[in-house]
Amino acid sequence: MTSLPAPRTPDPKSAPAIRWGIVAPGGIARDWTAALHATTASRVTAVGSRAQDRAQAFADEFGVERAYGSYEQLVADDGIDAVYVASPHSEHRDHALLALEAGKPVLVEKAFTRNAAEAKDVIDAARRHGLLAMEAMWTRFLPHLDVVRQCLEQGLLGDVVAVEADHGQQLYPGGPQRLADPALAGGALLDLAIYPVSFAHLALGGFATVRATGTLAETGVDASETIAVVSPTGAIGTLSSTMLVKTPCAASVSGTAARLEVNGWFYRPNTVRLIDPDDRELDRHEPPAREHGLAYQAAEFARLLEQGRTESDLLPLDETLRIMQALDEVRAQLGVRFPGE
Ligand SMILES: NC(=O)c1ccc[n+]([C@@H]2O[C@H](COP(=O)([O-])OP(=O)(O)OC[C@H]3O[C@@H](n4cnc5c(N)ncnc54)[C@H](OP(=O)(O)O)[C@@H]3O)[C@@H](O)[C@H]2O)c1
Repeated sequence: MTSLPAPRTPDPKSAPAIRWGIVAPGGIARDWTAALHATTASRVTAVGSRAQDRAQAFADEFGVERAYGSYEQLVADDGIDAVYVASPHSEHRDHALLALEAGKPVLVEKAFTRNAAEAKDVIDAARRHGLLAMEAMWTRFLPHLDVVRQCLEQGLLGDVVAVEADHGQQLYPGGPQRLADPALAGGALLDLAIYPVSFAHLALGGFATVRATGTLAETGVDASETIAVVSPTGAIGTLSSTMLVKTPCAASVSGTAARLEVNGWFYRPNTVRLIDPDDRELDRHEPPAREHGLAYQAAEFARLLEQGRTESDLLPLDETLRIMQALDEVRAQLGVRFPGE
C-alpha cells in the first residue's frame, strides 16, 4: 500500500435540514450550535435550561426561536425534530430518557452516560420507542477518521499489532468545576480518556482485556490514567489521559505493512500520515481546513433521521455500550465510584 483512501464523509452542508432542541445550554452547546449554524442547513429552534434567563440569553445569542425554563418544556416542543443533550455526564441518562419518553430522537454528548448500566437504560428506551439515538463522540464522524476506518476495513496496514493514543488537557485544578466534582461524574476518564479509548476500540475491533492504573484528584475523581488494552486478536493498545497537563494528543495505528500517525489533536480534523516500516512517509491526508468539526456528527444524525434509521453504523449503540463497559472497568481498577452508584 502506498497511498491513502479519500474520505467518504459527505459535506455537512449536504445533510437534510432538521430542527434541533437543546437540553442544557453550557459550553459545548455553544460550540456545537455555532458549528451547526455555520456549516449545516439545520438550526437550533428551541433551547431548554434549568433557568429561563439562561435559556433566553442563549436564544438571543444564536437566534433561537423558543427558550424554555425547564427541560420538560423543551422536550414537549412539537416544533423540534431531535434533542441534543449537552448536560454533565451525571445527567445524561435522565435527560436522554426525558427526550425519548417525549418521542424525540436524541444525540447525547460523550461520555454517553456515567456507566454501562445507565447506557443500557438509554439504549433500551431508544429501541423500545424505535427512535434514533447516538453518542456525540464527534471524532468518529470526521473525514480523517474515515481515512483510518477505510485503511482498517481494507486491511491496508497488514495485521494491526499496536495502537497508541493520549489525551491530556490542563483542566485541574483551576478548570471547570464540573471536572472536579464526583457528583457530576467529573474526572479525566469520561471527559478526556474516552477519546483514546474510543479510537482504540475502533482500531482494535474491541477489547479482550483492560488494565488501568492512575492517580486521583483530592476531590476523589480520577486525575490521570494509563490504560493497557489487548484486542481479541492479541493486538495491544497503550492509552493515557490526564487533566493535569497538556500532552501531545497523538494517535497511531501500527500494522505489519504500514502505520498511520495523527500527530497533535488526533481527535480533531487533522492530517493522517501513512508511514512504511522503514519510517518513510508514503502519503498524507490533509483536512480541507482547520475547522472545528462538531457539525459532522449533527449532519450524520440528520441523514439517519431522514432515512428512518435508529442508529449509526459509524458508532453503533452496542459499541457505545462496550466502550462504557471498558470505562467502568478502568474506573473500578482506579477505585473511583460516583455518588449513588
Ligand atoms: N465534544 C466536545 O468537544 C466536548 C467538549 C466539552 C465538553 N463536552 C461534553 O459536553 C458535556 C457538557 O460539558 P460542558 O463543558 O458543556 O459543561 P458545562 O459548560 O458545565 O454545561 C453543562 C450545562 O448543563 C446544565 N446542567 C444540568 N444539570 C446540571 C447540574 N446538575 N450541574 C451543572 N450543570 C447542569 C447547565 O445548564 P442549565 O443549568 O442552564 O440548564 C450547564 O450549563 C459533557 O458530557 C462533556 O463531556 C464535549
